[in-house]
Amino acid sequence: MKTVFDMSTLQAVVLWVLLICADLSAGVKFPSGFLFGSATASYQVEGAWNVSDKGENTWDRLVHSNPDAIKNRDNGDVACDSYHNWRDDVKIASDLGLHFYRFSISWSRLLPSGLPDRISEDGKNYYNNLIDGLLEKGIQPLITLYHWDLPQRLQDLGGWTNPLMVEWFADYARVAYTLYADRVKAWITINEPYIVCDVVYKSGLLAPAIKDPGFANYLCAKFLLLAHAKAWRIYDEEFKSIYNGKVSLTNQIIWMEPVSDEYEELTEHVRHYMAGLYSHPIYTKDGGWPPEIEKTIAEYSKRQGYPRSRLLAFTQEEIDFIKGTYDFYGLNFYTSRLVRKVRDGETLSHWPLGSGFPELGAVIEVHASWEKTASPWFLDSI
Ligand SMILES: *[C@@H]1O[C@H](CO)[C@@H](O)[C@H](O)[C@H]1NC(C)=O
Repeated sequence: MKTVFDMSTLQAVVLWVLLICADLSAGVKFPSGFLFGSATASYQVEGAWNVSDKGENTWDRLVHSNPDAIKNRDNGDVACDSYHNWRDDVKIASDLGLHFYRFSISWSRLLPSGLPDRISEDGKNYYNNLIDGLLEKGIQPLITLYHWDLPQRLQDLGGWTNPLMVEWFADYARVAYTLYADRVKAWITINEPYIVCDVVYKSGLLAPAIKDPGFANYLCAKFLLLAHAKAWRIYDEEFKSIYNGKVSLTNQIIWMEPVSDEYEELTEHVRHYMAGLYSHPIYTKDGGWPPEIEKTIAEYSKRQGYPRSRLLAFTQEEIDFIKGTYDFYGLNFYTSRLVRKVRDGETLSHWPLGSGFPELGAVIEVHASWEKTASPWFLDSI
């Protein structure tokens, strides 16, 4: 199996501050009221994968069943040990002068069975302490409910390709809101759907290491959007009037530029396929899949002999259920790529392992002049 990415990248706290400050010397001024923060994900930093009654999650399973899944046989068993060292982490955040700190809840730490039949006392206390510790220092906590570490039990039942994930995720969200919404005013339901569905199932490299490109990723996309919408609506209906917080999901957008002007339309198509798939259903007046993408995949599926589109259709009820389920647009931005049309005779396989988007006839490239970074995926295929 190929290396996913090295653990130093996985462990790195994403300091949005540093990225943005790089331009300060050029005279860029931030508006007053602009908030600076940093972000982590539970599996990246917590460690303590087997303490108290914590359940196993998909990353635990992947790294223990295939220790070579990550370069140097690294894993998150201990990671930054933030489970034990959270006081130091809060101090560092305070010393940095951060206004907010974004962290994710480890679903299987809070709900060891993945379901709300039993809430872990230990898990509950861990996040209570972290939240209170941040607030004492005047740092706003921002919670991500799902940053890629699914309880293994739910994965064994199909994970994000199972329609029941909509209920399971919503149940989990309600538990988290009930415990923490009195102090946490900003929530992200799901971090980077494009990675959770497309990159996971097209590459098979990230947990749960299932490769089923062009099929599983579309099942995932539909149920993930419904799960997000249900979690948003639970907050809206049961918590918003009391706590007045904000909830949305966060998209990762890899910016696409055409190799040359003739590919502008194709490039826009790719943007709709990547960012649009997880934005159009939520943020547009009409809702639903981006129409041209829905049409393209339906036609392609038909040519392949499928009785229905691999991109599952939404009912009108589902479209209305998802539409408008946001309080802000969450955007993670890291890197860019170039787009051109596939050449005659050139074969295309699914990016990010392969060279592009077969259904769109689009090849993804980088410009030879672009400099490499410490994180290989910023420029290379994974
Ligand atoms: C928990 O995991 C750590 C690190 O993988 C290991 O050293 C330890 O023995 C485990 N503890 C238990 C109670 O299984």
